[in-house]
Amino acid sequence: MAPLLFSPMALGPFEIPNRMTVAPMCQYSADDGSATAWHTHQLMNYAMSGAGIVMVEATAVERRGRLSHGCLGLYTDANEIALSQVMMDAKNVAPAGSRFGIQLAHSGRKGSVQRPWEGGRALGPSEDPWPVIASSALPFSHNYPTPAALNEEGMQTVREAFVQAALRSLRIGFDIIELHSTHGYLLDSFLSPIANQRTDEYGGSLQNRTKFPLSVAKAVRAAVPKDKVFGMRITGTDWTNDGWSTEDAANYSKSLKELGVDYLCVSSGGVAPGLPYPTGPGYQVPLAENVKAITGLPTRTAGHIVVPEYAEEILQAGRADMIALARAILDNPHWIWHAADRLGAKVCYPPQYERINPSMWKAAPIARPQDFLHEGSKRLGS
Ligand SMILES: Cc1cc2nc3c(=O)[nH]c(=O)nc-3n(C[C@H](O)[C@H](O)[C@H](O)COP(=O)(O)O)c2cc1C
Repeated sequence: MAPLLFSPMALGPFEIPNRMTVAPMCQYSADDGSATAWHTHQLMNYAMSGAGIVMVEATAVERRGRLSHGCLGLYTDANEIALSQVMMDAKNVAPAGSRFGIQLAHSGRKGSVQRPWEGGRALGPSEDPWPVIASSALPFSHNYPTPAALNEEGMQTVREAFVQAALRSLRIGFDIIELHSTHGYLLDSFLSPIANQRTDEYGGSLQNRTKFPLSVAKAVRAAVPKDKVFGMRITGTDWTNDGWSTEDAANYSKSLKELGVDYLCVSSGGVAPGLPYPTGPGYQVPLAENVKAITGLPTRTAGHIVVPEYAEEILQAGRADMIALARAILDNPHWIWHAADRLGAKVCYPPQYERINPSMWKAAPIARPQDFLHEGSKRLGS
């Protein structure tokens, strides 16, 4: 029997050829939101990776919704043209059936900072900083800018920006539109009681805190036709007792299902600095399991999954339906080809790469990374 990891699955109107997703990964390499040659390089690599789904990095729906000056955006026509050109090239090298998704995001109070390799600090006066927004006028930490609390009019502007960016994404040809509702970004700043200190109808109870994010999801769902897929990346827990809980995640997921979300990806953390969280292979799998059990929706997990047998084990146990890989693919863009060899499955190589297929290259078992082949690494770090 073919491993589940390499078996097709239904997702909304599509059949996805396998269960692996290239996770969204910010590259901080855009020019005022527009994709550059760096994105062409990255996305062509990911397109060739054999993943059933390739997610494009967090893409800001407003200029002020970027984290840094290098973040990708879809807030101008120039942004749309640049990403269209990149996607045309990427689609040309992708295997049949694989789908491209885009993660639409608004950084909220985590925006207006330097690229990570520049220090990741708040932009100084000489670095073209911008005013940021959030649910409440509370900075992410003492060295981040203090956001303005969004009023109703501001919420309408942001909601419309999400819809417009979704329409731009559809025109570019994305099959999957995902909203970023985790990691302390704008939508998450409404959800988590740590960031949301409002006393009006958008703060306090879970119902109030979910009101604005759900209104954004509803507006975008209405703009994304049923022949495309609409998903959300949500927080499974803030990893602290006074934060967003697994029960909150379950209730939010139920509401998202009711308004027509096709899948959920469950991540965690990021709402405040310095909160300890567990690491180790699959540390977020129980969070996906929780949401999947409540909603029955196709559910994706990510987090320190680097060994194919372990990815397969998660799927076989029914704990999640899709596995997202971030650093494993960044480290080794051919991870999926190697996993297929290891699990005895077939993936399509571009013909230009055919001569590295183990059936044609006897040195393949020697050349491939030892850690990856070593069964012991399955539990590394746990
Ligand atoms: C370079 C890098 C950039 C990332 N950018 C994003 C992003 O744009 N959106 C997002 O939701 N998560 C982002 N993440 C988190 C990953 O999608 C993923 O959830 C996390 O890295 C855990 O998976 P891993 O252990 O396979 O790396 C990023 C991670 C990395 C390493």
